[in-house]
Amino acid sequence: MSIRIGDTAPDFTANTTDGQINFHNWIGDSWCILFSHPKDYTPVCTTELGKMANLSGEFAKRNVKLIAVSVDSVDDHKGWINDINETQGCTVAYPIIDGADRKVPEQYGMIHPEANDSMTVRSVFVIDPKKKVRLILTYPASCGRNFDELLRVVDSLQLTDSSKVATPVNWKPGDDVIISPAVSNEDAAKLFPGFKTVKPYLRYTKAPK
Ligand code: BEZ
Repeated sequence: MSIRIGDTAPDFTANTTDGQINFHNWIGDSWCILFSHPKDYTPVCTTELGKMANLSGEFAKRNVKLIAVSVDSVDDHKGWINDINETQGCTVAYPIIDGADRKVPEQYGMIHPEANDSMTVRSVFVIDPKKKVRLILTYPASCGRNFDELLRVVDSLQLTDSSKVATPVNWKPGDDVIISPAVSNEDAAKLFPGFKTVKPYLRYTKAPK
């Protein structure tokens, strides 16, 4: 059965470029982004893994660990990392899972036979510290992902987990947020003094600190 938002992320033990890990233990109390790419030594993937390496400091600030996977071996990953570092001006320091046995790619539904049964698609899973899946993305091989968007999603998830708000279209940190429909006007007045009502169901407030 396919994985859905809200499911517990399937656990596994796997070899990675940093040695063997148990996934849930490795995540620990952090958030995690597990992402797959179609193939090592391919051009779009090279730019993607480089971008993730260059964003890793921003993810660390948000307590997010990164981990990649494809159907390639650890030996392939290790050789390719040298090319990524050289061409993308980065240091790939996050682990890449050995998916040559297809265990993790199949567990996470990352191989779509109708796309290509010998490659992983471009999948992303955002997983929270309780190991729940909070976001799933799937992109075609020809389109590199926008990884800045993942920072925005993590900011939104962490904000809306800690406050009774949701984030509107194209929201970015610092913008106003939407008060959850479940919050009465009476409670909203206490929680979000000065909130603005556009429609009874569309109420804005400054983002809580
Ligand atoms: C790429 O990363 O460039 C790529 C990988 C597989 C299929 C197409 C493109």
